[in-house]
Amino acid sequence: PASPRVEALLARMTVEEKVGQLNLVSGNHAVTGPFAPQDVRDAILKGQAGGLFNVYGAEYTRSLQELATRETRLGIPLLLGFDVLHGYRTILPIPLGQAASWDMEAIEQGERVSAAEASAAGVNWIFAPMVDVSRDPRWGRVAEGGGESAWLGARIASARVRGLEGARLSATDSVAACVKHFAGNGATEAGRDYSGLDLSERALREQQLPPFQAAVESRARCVMAAFNAVDGVPGVANERLLRDILRREWGFDGIVVSDFGAIGELPVHGVAEDGFDAARIAFRAGTDMDMESRSYIASMPLLVREGLVPGDELDASVRRILQLKEDLGLFDDPFARSDPQREAAVIGSQAHREAALRLAEKSLVLLKNERRTLPFATDAKRVAIIGPLGDSGADTLGPWAAHGDPEAAITLKEGVEAVLGAGAQVTALAAGTIEQAKPRDIAAAAKLASQSDIVILALGEHATQSGEAASRSSLDLPGDQMALARAVLAVGKPTAVALFNGRPLTIEDLDREAPAILEAWFPGSEGGLAVARTLFGLNEPTGRLPISFPRSVGQIPIYHDHLPTGRPAMAAYKPYTSAYIDLPSTPLYAFGHGLSYTRFEMGEPRVDRLRMGSGESARITVPVANVGDRPGAAQAQLYIRHRVARLSRPVRELKGMGRVALKAGETGEISFTLSEQDLAYWQPGGRFALPDGGPIEIHVGPDAGQTRMAVLDYRPDRQAPAAEA
Ligand code: IFM
Repeated sequence: PASPRVEALLARMTVEEKVGQLNLVSGNHAVTGPFAPQDVRDAILKGQAGGLFNVYGAEYTRSLQELATRETRLGIPLLLGFDVLHGYRTILPIPLGQAASWDMEAIEQGERVSAAEASAAGVNWIFAPMVDVSRDPRWGRVAEGGGESAWLGARIASARVRGLEGARLSATDSVAACVKHFAGNGATEAGRDYSGLDLSERALREQQLPPFQAAVESRARCVMAAFNAVDGVPGVANERLLRDILRREWGFDGIVVSDFGAIGELPVHGVAEDGFDAARIAFRAGTDMDMESRSYIASMPLLVREGLVPGDELDASVRRILQLKEDLGLFDDPFARSDPQREAAVIGSQAHREAALRLAEKSLVLLKNERRTLPFATDAKRVAIIGPLGDSGADTLGPWAAHGDPEAAITLKEGVEAVLGAGAQVTALAAGTIEQAKPRDIAAAAKLASQSDIVILALGEHATQSGEAASRSSLDLPGDQMALARAVLAVGKPTAVALFNGRPLTIEDLDREAPAILEAWFPGSEGGLAVARTLFGLNEPTGRLPISFPRSVGQIPIYHDHLPTGRPAMAAYKPYTSAYIDLPSTPLYAFGHGLSYTRFEMGEPRVDRLRMGSGESARITVPVANVGDRPGAAQAQLYIRHRVARLSRPVRELKGMGRVALKAGETGEISFTLSEQDLAYWQPGGRFALPDGGPIEIHVGPDAGQTRMAVLDYRPDRQAPAAEA
């Protein structure tokens, strides 16, 4: 139920004023910063805007809240939204990179930084987390998500919501989280943004929805309805998703906002006749707020008058929006977040940069390290950083970098200079651009390499090649970078690659030819320092891939929790197996992959019981030894497989992750708890339920491609419920 203040306000509102609350309009951007065009200011003054987005800055947002609260009849404050995907001014690694940390505490703290900075600039609502699970790295938006695992994605979703919303939503350093894009956006067809897709109920429930449900359970106050259609029904028009699942099944009581202009696109999808029809369909399906299509503001008063939208449904949506404003504390003090002093104190503060550095360090994944090429010695005198990503601030920040300042980003060159100090000569040579390296650029690069003690190849993608509307059909290193790498590697100096990218790339050639590769993602404001500290051994790499790296785009989709086949690639079935004739079926780097500077040996998993009954859980332990000569953190993942079930189950399902810090020569163990609920899956009857019982394979290892198995006999006491028709 809404608060008495909200109910009293609602009772005073005209239909037009109510409809105004459903309208979300965008600010604009000039060199001086964000601004609201005249029509947007007019909309506020006429009570026709419930919120604005793309506006920020303490003084500026204060002036907007002044317009709304002092110069309108009802004085209702504004929701002020912004896309803060991985930092507001202090930019953290891209979300996919953060996911590689597998560190929920660090991710939550990162969101606390984002919330503190954005809220000081008057933002009270953030269009994040993006929790779409995706197995298609052609889709540029994999950069914004948590990777291919629904299990990992659900944990990340909760951590992000907790971090953004804090312990109390009304606190001035908290913001409302808006989890997106509901739903199925990550299952986009052929990796193209905004494409239609066909998802089975099982794929929707098991792969796409768990992170959304986790976010809702962590009390995310907003859900963004997706552009894409699922089963022919676009997100904003999808009553089954918005009303049946989100509201009825999960009990969500926050607001649903459309993606940008998505309601206006319903006629283009071919499911509405015109804007009037689109407004009716989207609203009746459960979309409370219209982001920028202006369909509600144009059509809703008439829809209500004609009885096509019931007045009580309009009231319910407005009530939810007003209640969110109430919960944010906006009715008590609409200016509390627009605080120039706090803005000056917290934005880009030392503590925030420190947090960004630590998270960037945790996000880095050592993909390959032959002949112990890394870490480089810190007494190196002549260091060459070759490639287009070695000194680019914008590409260090990555896509959706909010109000980040590329000039303030520490590039790899600056990071290496900071690590090595004045005694070293650090030379960065772009050697052309990401798109092109001419023969003379490549020759200059080889010459520089020959004059250096060590070489870092800084390769990858532009920030603009990832993110929204940045789908790629090839995932090779763009331009002539492979030719550049070959020429530099041929010089024969100790060389490592630092890879900057927003998605898995197909780097089989690079993997074959380069001795060491560090996946840097787009590492954020402090990114170059984090990468440099890791290359030179001041930080141990601990990141693990949250998404598989294919060998070729022809393997996509490729992911760890795929279904088995009756014809696995085994000799007994050859040649009629489920395989390629020109490539292995395995990824180049498996889900969970990541090396350390030391070496670990992992033993057989042990289960503390042979049988597991109803309500019981099992403890699984795996012994680990640090057999290298450096300290490090050993990590293991736990997967299960239902050996016999009513239907074919994935060959691996992630159910746990653990780590243990070990000194050189030390031994220890990593343990996991597997609960009975971990065995549940989407049953033919249309619900998550426990299986009938039977053998459960338990696979533990450093990544999804290198696991060892134990078996647990699951014997529930109860009779398994029969599947519903
Ligand atoms: O929040 C975003 C969304 O992820 C993609 N379309 C635009 C929205 C607002 O900027």
